[in-house]
Amino acid sequence: MATSEPVSAPPAVKTSLDPQKPAQQQQIDPYNVGGEVDETGAIKAIDYDRLIQDFGVQPLTPSHLTRFEKVTGKPAHRLMRRKLFFSHRDFDKILDAYEEHGTFMLYTGRGPSSGSMHLGHTVPFLFTKELQEIFDVPLVIMLTDDEKYLYTRNKNDGHQKVGAAPEDFLDFAHENIKDILALGFDMKKTFVYTDYEFMGGHFYRNTSEFESLVTMNQASGAFGFNGSTNIGLIAYGAKQCVAAFPSSYPELFGLKDYRAPEYAAEGKRRHKSLASIPTLIPCAIDQEPYFRILRDRCERMTDPHPKTSLILSKFLTALQGPGGKMSASDPNSAIFMSDTPKQIKDKINKHAFSGGRESLEEHRKLGGNPDVDVAFTYLSYFLEDDDELEGLAEGYRKGEILTGEMKKRCIIELQKFVQDFQERRKGVSDETMRAYMTPRKLEFAGNPNPTRPRQAAVAAAGTNGGVVAGGADGGEAGEEGKGVREDGRGTKGERKAAKLAEKKALKMAERPKEEA
Ligand code: TRP
Repeated sequence: MATSEPVSAPPAVKTSLDPQKPAQQQQIDPYNVGGEVDETGAIKAIDYDRLIQDFGVQPLTPSHLTRFEKVTGKPAHRLMRRKLFFSHRDFDKILDAYEEHGTFMLYTGRGPSSGSMHLGHTVPFLFTKELQEIFDVPLVIMLTDDEKYLYTRNKNDGHQKVGAAPEDFLDFAHENIKDILALGFDMKKTFVYTDYEFMGGHFYRNTSEFESLVTMNQASGAFGFNGSTNIGLIAYGAKQCVAAFPSSYPELFGLKDYRAPEYAAEGKRRHKSLASIPTLIPCAIDQEPYFRILRDRCERMTDPHPKTSLILSKFLTALQGPGGKMSASDPNSAIFMSDTPKQIKDKINKHAFSGGRESLEEHRKLGGNPDVDVAFTYLSYFLEDDDELEGLAEGYRKGEILTGEMKKRCIIELQKFVQDFQERRKGVSDETMRAYMTPRKLEFAGNPNPTRPRQAAVAAAGTNGGVVAGGADGGEAGEEGKGVREDGRGTKGERKAAKLAEKKALKMAERPKEEA
């Protein structure tokens, strides 16, 4: 995730991008992840409750978990139960859509800032993978080699350093893709791409249209850009946004794109039928500013899309603790997916911040604090067994379990996770990677018993093998021209009138902001 390496420290641009904000305040956006700094210079833990308020997102509550379990018939994922995924936008609507119409698309991504990934990077992917299995839906994974190139060059005052050319980021993307695939995504329903390779066709058509909906002022406001930011980076966000539209990937749904050398006539126009498929984005919360911009514009596209739903995670704690900085360039601050069992052991033992007491006697007497203990924190994300975890927390509080013992348990769990990963990584060949990266019709079934199957969605969900009803333009006109629709959206005329009214209202609402 981001410059957002969910675990890592903010990149160097920090205040230069946003001179209005005092350096002490906590700052979270796609290009900055930093907790508040107090008067003494100490970095505080990120305040997620405040973030919920500042961003205006919703907390993920026990009732969401209950609803999730009811709709899917499966237990809520441990990362939801343990609040690593802690907030959302319209998560309920995705559950509604799945319950009623049967399917949606998952979308997530990674900025390939280097060739190696650490533990924190895997978290959103692990979560996404399990969502994909539970819902049986298509997934797209975007590798933003372009974003990282533009961002790095911007950070280096416009200079392109050795090893930081576009091709270098493409190489990082390929390495990262192999890491991601080693987590075990189902090839039948997963499409992975890098922007440098895939941009074109309907994706680029959506990008261009979306770019026309974002002004310089709006981009500066959301990302802290200024007049010295390179224009590639300013425009980049549009790509990350339209990547959420199923209509950017017609081939995944059995429809034609419009690309060299075929330029299939049926693909000349973007496919309206795909616009009705909703999307859920699991990601770290620093990416939310992109998707705020996206949600405000979904309904203004030529073929309006439902507002994208989000499920948002915290950042995986750095080895040095919630306020500590973890960076890919400091090997002691992160557990890398390429670390040996010994490296993992040494890092946890030497560097993992402890919630234990100064001395053994004190610890036995007063007990430790698992909430700030990094070994326990990692266990809470990687240990499936709720009872064991609860036992560890209790034992620690009572002073029965010592820091060394907590670390030992954590080391075993992480060694296992990383070793299994490395085994699978060995098996990911270039051919395997290319198979995932080939645009092709994905196979997925969605909800086997939707309550109100919708024509396009049902078809897309693949009760007929993933083919969207109608397929070519003629078929889609039929689908859209039917008049009254099962999903209660009214006749075509009514929808058109409603859309016009909405457009007008939006325009009015936008105007004063634009001028301000
Ligand atoms: N900008 C993200 C990063 O730097 C990469 C990304 C692209 C992404 N699309 C996404 C992350 C969707 C999460 C969800 O890591």
